[in-house]
Amino acid sequence: MLKTIKNAELKDKTVLLRVDFNVPLDDNLEITDDTRIRSALPTIKYIMEKGGKTVIVSHLGRPKGAVVEKYSLKPVVKHLSKLLGKPVKFAEDCIGEKAETLAAGLKPAEVGVLENLRFHKEEEKNDPDFAKTLASLADIFVSDAFGTAHRAHASTVGVADYIPAYAGFLIEKEVEYLTKVTSNPEKPFVAIMGGAKVSDKIQVIENLLTKVDTLLIGGGMAYTFQKAEGYKIGLSLCEDDKLDMARDILKKAKELGKKIIYTQDMVAAKEIKKGVATKVYVKGEVPDDEEALDIGPETRKLFEAELKKAKTVLWNGPMGVFEVEPFDKGTMAIAKAVAALDAVTVVGGGDSVAAVEQMGAADKISHVSTGGGACLEFLEGKVLPGIKILYDK
Ligand code: 3PG
Repeated sequence: MLKTIKNAELKDKTVLLRVDFNVPLDDNLEITDDTRIRSALPTIKYIMEKGGKTVIVSHLGRPKGAVVEKYSLKPVVKHLSKLLGKPVKFAEDCIGEKAETLAAGLKPAEVGVLENLRFHKEEEKNDPDFAKTLASLADIFVSDAFGTAHRAHASTVGVADYIPAYAGFLIEKEVEYLTKVTSNPEKPFVAIMGGAKVSDKIQVIENLLTKVDTLLIGGGMAYTFQKAEGYKIGLSLCEDDKLDMARDILKKAKELGKKIIYTQDMVAAKEIKKGVATKVYVKGEVPDDEEALDIGPETRKLFEAELKKAKTVLWNGPMGVFEVEPFDKGTMAIAKAVAALDAVTVVGGGDSVAAVEQMGAADKISHVSTGGGACLEFLEGKVLPGIKILYDK
């Protein structure tokens, strides 16, 4: 059983709260997507309500053990303070005197943030002394850093050797929904996979193949499947060294009696440029000097029809070059279709999450995962180290 924060005594206790505040920042260090910060709020507020003192730790970017100003958590602290509607303290180091002073000075219901953990190389090495020093700042450890749960680092795993560890509400929700789709999905279960490469998703596909009723494949990876079955794909994306792998997946699906549908018609163009002239082709007809960049209208209809039958849907990866108009249409259509379903719907992966956010449809999805690599590894069937430590031994 997952030990959740609800099992912890929080009153007057200092809580070391590991979150994933690895948010995108623009050149002016403005946060361009605060989803990960908002997703941690229920846990932070709960600790506050229960009279705990919250010491927040996170990484941001990959500073590789050096102090790199653009990866400072300062912009995050400012934003968190705005979201909480109260001041948030900040210490310019996550260990040493500054961190100790912050932690010791917190009153019940107060919140402080320590500077980027990855400014110390010991964090990613899961150095036991570093973990012990972090743990010494608090009475208990709460992890809500789902996005970093696939990393066995000092602040995600190591600290649990020294103080009792609990899961926050975000981790609890991520585990609940991702377990639902990977272990006991209500049938029919339709998974829709996209993205550029088959190789990135192969383990997810293999793991899900035994569980789904229908697997829909769009995005760049669909052209590897088309070529594997002998269709011409013009200049479309293809992993030529993965053709056998694609054939194996199709064969295995057939043996298991599962339905696989990959892109059947495509929007193609001569270049990836906003507003460029496009044409729709059925599979096998993309000319030699054009590349397929989005699913076509027939494929959209096919996918939508399958989605409508589902009781559980998992969507991971865009249907086309989503960041360039007009190749965003397929992805946006799928976002709309998934949001309209009366089913358990789970969306993971940067671009598919961005699509549901852009459609203003995120609140119509049962669960939008905050994990990139962590979500994929969970769907591959792996046990994430940062979650394993939160279970009763
Ligand atoms: C992510 O953005 O996927 C997480 O914050 C993990 O970051 P990392 O890949 O740098 O470990």
